[in-house]
Amino acid sequence: MKKLYIKNFGCQMNEYDAARIVDQLQVNCGYQQTDTPEQADLILFNTCHIREKAEEKLFSELGRLHKLVNTARHNAGLPPALFAVGGCVAQASGEEIFRRAPFVRLVFGPQTYHRLPIMLSRLEREGGQLCDAEIAPESKFDELPQSQNVGAIASVTVQEGCNKFCAFCVVPYTRGREWSRPVQDILQEVRHLAGQGAKEIQLLGQNVNAYQGMDATGVVHDLALLIRQVALLPGVQRIRFVTSHPADMNEDLVDIFADIPQLCTYFHLPVQSGSDRILQRMGRGHDRAEYLSWIRKLRAVHPDMAIASDFIVGFPGETEEDFQETLRLVEEVSFDHAYSFCYSARPGTEAANMADAVPPEISSARLARLQERLNAHQLQRNQQRVGRIESVLVEGVAKKGSGELSGRTPGFRKVNFPGPVEWIGHIVPVRISEGFANSLRGHCATPPAL
Ligand code: SAH
Ligand code: SF4
Ligand code: F3S
Repeated sequence: MKKLYIKNFGCQMNEYDAARIVDQLQVNCGYQQTDTPEQADLILFNTCHIREKAEEKLFSELGRLHKLVNTARHNAGLPPALFAVGGCVAQASGEEIFRRAPFVRLVFGPQTYHRLPIMLSRLEREGGQLCDAEIAPESKFDELPQSQNVGAIASVTVQEGCNKFCAFCVVPYTRGREWSRPVQDILQEVRHLAGQGAKEIQLLGQNVNAYQGMDATGVVHDLALLIRQVALLPGVQRIRFVTSHPADMNEDLVDIFADIPQLCTYFHLPVQSGSDRILQRMGRGHDRAEYLSWIRKLRAVHPDMAIASDFIVGFPGETEEDFQETLRLVEEVSFDHAYSFCYSARPGTEAANMADAVPPEISSARLARLQERLNAHQLQRNQQRVGRIESVLVEGVAKKGSGELSGRTPGFRKVNFPGPVEWIGHIVPVRISEGFANSLRGHCATPPAL
C-alpha cells in the first residue's frame, strides 16, 4: 500500500481540507496515512499564506524533509518521494513554488484538491511537474468521498472565501469569493458524521456568519437558520461555529443561544483593533461601539458565553494612542481567549502599499504588552470556573503517563482530569478545582453511562 505523509499549516479550514485530502487519497488512490515521512511515497504540505513567517517556515521545512526523506529512501533502495504543495501559499504563488523548491512536483490550490487523483495519475504517466491552482468553477465538495476517519469532534466547511478585502489580508486572494454550500449538502454531511460517532459538529467558514445557503426549494438560509436544522439531526450533542465577522452579525445569531441547548457557549468574534481610526484604515466595516454592543448582547443572552477574538498590532499608522484604545477594549471586554499577532505585510494587499509602517521593535513591544493583558484576563476567567461543574467532551489522554484525560468545555476551555481511556469520546461532567492560564483541572462529578 502506498503511504502518504501530510503536514498541515494554518486555520481550521485548512485542517478540514487536509482531512478531506486524506479521505480522498485513501478511498480513490489507495494511500494510507503515516506519521513517518521517511516511509512516505507522497509528501504533501497543506500551506498557509496569512503571515510571512508561515511562508518562510514552509520552505525551510520542505528543504529539510526533502533531504531527510530522499536520503533515507535512497539508502533503502526506494524511489524518491513525490513532494506536493497545496493550500493558500500554493494558490498565491503557483509555479513560483517550483523555482523556490525545484524538487516539488505538484502544486494545487484549496479549490482544486478534489482533482488530486487525476493530477497524481497524470504525473505518474507523464513525469515532470504540474500546477493546478485555479479557483475551480465546479464544487470540490460534490467530488469528495465521505469522511473516513471521524472522531468525537468533526468539522464541516459551510462557507468559504471572503469578499471583505480587509486591507491586511490575503484570504480573498487565496480562497476566492464568498460562497456557501447548499443546506441539504451540509445536513447530509452532518448526518454521516453523527452516524459515525461524532458528538460535536463544528461549522467552519472564513466568515461563517456570512453563510447564505440555498435549501432544496431555493430559499436562502442564514447561519442561525442552518444551526437550527443541524440541531434537529439525531446524535448531534454539540454545535460550534467559527469564525464570525462583526459586520455579518444579526440578532438571530444571538437569540439562538437561548433556544438551542446543544449550541456551545463560545463566540469567536475577531476585532483586530480597538481604535476606530485603525479599524477604518483596515476596512473592517464596523467600529468599536458596534463591536462592543454585540459582545454585550452575547453576554446578555447567556451568562456563560465565552468570547474569543483576534488582534493585530502594528498595523501601518497605528500610534501609541491607537494601541491604548486596543488595551482599553481588552479591559472592557475581558476576553476568555484571544489570538494576537504583529502585523505582517502581505504582497498584493492594500496595506502592503501604505505609508507609516510601524517599526518591528515597536510592534513586538506592543504585542508583548497586549499578550500580558490578554493572558491575565484568560487566567482570571479560567479561575472563575473553579467550583463549577463543566460538561467536558473528552478528546484523548492529557499527557502520556499522567493518567489524566483531556477535553473541552462548551466555552472551549481545555480541562484535564483523571479518568479511564474508555471515557474518550464521551461527555463527562467535571467539577473544576483549579484554573490555569491555558487550562482547567478537575474531577469527574458523575461517571458517564457508557
Ligand atoms: N475572517 C476572519 C479572520 C481570518 S484570518 C476575520 O475577518 O476575522 C485569521 C487572523 O489572522 C485574523 O483575524 C488576523 O488577526 C490575522 N491576520 C490576517 N492577516 C494578517 C496579517 N497580514 N498580519 C498579521 N495577522 C494577520
Ligand atoms: Fe481576511 Fe477580512 Fe476576509 Fe477575515 S474578513 S478573511 S480578515 S479579508
Ligand atoms: Fe492561512 Fe489560508 Fe487559512 S491563508 S489562515 S490557511 S485560509
